[in-house]
Amino acid sequence: MTRQGQEPVLKEKMLHLLILAVWCPASQAASLVNTTGAMDEEGVCHCSVALPDNTFPADRLEILEISNKDLSISVQNEITKIQSYKATLTGYLQKLTNLTRRVEVMEMGGISYTELDFELLKLEIKEMETLVVKLRESFDGSNTLIDALYVEVHNISVMVSQLESYDKNNVLAVRREIAALRKKLEDCQKNQESPVSPPINYGTCSHGGIVNISKPFVVQLNWLGFPYKFGGWGKDSYSGANQDMHWVAPLNTDGRMMNTLRFYPTYDNLLLYKGATEKVLTRTLAYNNYDYSNCGQGGGIIMFNNSLIYNCYNTRDICKLNVDTNGVERKTLTDATFNNRFSYASSIWQDIDLASDEDGLWVIYSTEQNSGNIVISKVNPLTLTVEKTWQTSQYKPGATNAFMVCGVLYATRTLSTRKEEIFYMYDTKTNQEGQISIILDKMMENVQSLTYNPNDHKLYMYNDGYLVTYTLAFKSLPNPA
Ligand SMILES: *[C@@H]1O[C@H](CO)[C@@H](O)[C@H](O)[C@H]1NC(C)=O
Ligand SMILES: *[C@@H]1O[C@H](CO)[C@@H](O)[C@H](O)[C@H]1NC(C)=O
Ligand SMILES: *[C@@H]1O[C@H](CO)[C@@H](O)[C@H](O)[C@H]1NC(C)=O
Ligand SMILES: *[C@@H]1O[C@H](CO)[C@@H](O)[C@H](O)[C@H]1NC(C)=O
Ligand SMILES: *[C@@H]1O[C@H](CO)[C@@H](O)[C@H](O)[C@H]1NC(C)=O
Repeated sequence: MTRQGQEPVLKEKMLHLLILAVWCPASQAASLVNTTGAMDEEGVCHCSVALPDNTFPADRLEILEISNKDLSISVQNEITKIQSYKATLTGYLQKLTNLTRRVEVMEMGGISYTELDFELLKLEIKEMETLVVKLRESFDGSNTLIDALYVEVHNISVMVSQLESYDKNNVLAVRREIAALRKKLEDCQKNQESPVSPPINYGTCSHGGIVNISKPFVVQLNWLGFPYKFGGWGKDSYSGANQDMHWVAPLNTDGRMMNTLRFYPTYDNLLLYKGATEKVLTRTLAYNNYDYSNCGQGGGIIMFNNSLIYNCYNTRDICKLNVDTNGVERKTLTDATFNNRFSYASSIWQDIDLASDEDGLWVIYSTEQNSGNIVISKVNPLTLTVEKTWQTSQYKPGATNAFMVCGVLYATRTLSTRKEEIFYMYDTKTNQEGQISIILDKMMENVQSLTYNPNDHKLYMYNDGYLVTYTLAFKSLPNPA
């Protein structure tokens, strides 16, 4: 069955062979141009086919040739394509090697990586992943090189994600949180500040007086320590003065005499208690005698135009110590009471309190003629002579301290061990006095000195030995004159 079934196929094949070989006896070749058939003596039918020359399938060969040419062109195209892909691939492989190295370095903790590194890596990997996917598509997914590349890129992508997830618990998470917080704070500040305070002009008086005060900022304990509860400190309160220098003058523990003081060249030096220039005001005379005349009395000290200005020890004089030359000039403050006659409520020996503001140098004191009430005098800083005087109705020992801002005196009083109040003001421009209420939080109970610096709008407080600052906020004027 099988053999018979295969026979026609075999015969057909043979026929093909006959045609192709042009099988024909030489004698019949010329005559046989057509198919002929003949039966021999044994009754077997012989049939032969003769093909004329033009029956060669030149057209088919031509087609074959054309398609072969097409094929070779397209193969050539494919080869060129592969070559270009190969070049691209080589480039990406190099990049990949670089990336791998970088990820490895990161993983080993060899460098301190930043979030930016991750972002950059992720971006590069993403770019490569898309390119590899494109390549893969164009090769019908049949190229092992590209498959390997894809796996590698994917591996790196996973690695970076893992690295990032490890890190999320610390550095990056904290950074993001901080950034978010900072943003929130900035927003808060913008929202809060914009209606309250326009740009601050230090040294000018284009505002309507104090409206509020910051929380206390404790800078440090004075350099002599906790027992030195009386004194003063600050920067140069002369409008426009160099603001690097910080002076600290703790009084002797008797709360009366200023003998030793320090000048720190910078704020950092102050914080570290180092690099200070120390000055001693007592002069040693012969036979173990001492001259205290250049020493100060009480905490009413101020630094003004590179000089320290204070009440001279045991007198009603004002002293001016030149910080560079150490020369001391002095001038009597006529009628001023001194030696603890009318000091402040929370600090002894501060009968004469120097102050400075945008308008210049002032002295706050008291006289018998004014019944112990506060007297304000404008002082010429070069000669220390009084230029003008104002009498107020605020009893000086009824206040804990006082300072000047833009020609206005502000006095404080104690509300509790934790709160102080700016409660009284006197405007020397209008001779008007008034009651106000601006509360200061304090860290320690007693205020020993309080001065204003027009260069930073800050109050400098000596608070039971601690050096503290407050920032003043001023009322903004709708139409600055
Ligand atoms: C084939 O043979 C027939 C009859 O013998 C004849 O008429 C015809 O022309 C032949 N064809 C060719 C191509 O020679
Ligand atoms: C790989 O890194 C080296 C040095 O880090 C750099 O010079 C080179 O251009 C990088 N190669 C690629 C392909 O990014
Ligand atoms: C990809 O990662 C797997 C498992 O982490 C690993 O077995 C394989 O060798 C990596 N392949 C490459 C190319 O890095
Ligand atoms: C005054 O300052 C305090 C402390 O900085 C602040 O809490 C308060 O909101 C301020 N008040 C006004 C009216 O600005
Ligand atoms: C400030 O000091 C300088 C230098 O000593 C001096 O020339 C100037 O007159 C002083 N100005 C005031 C207002 O004291």
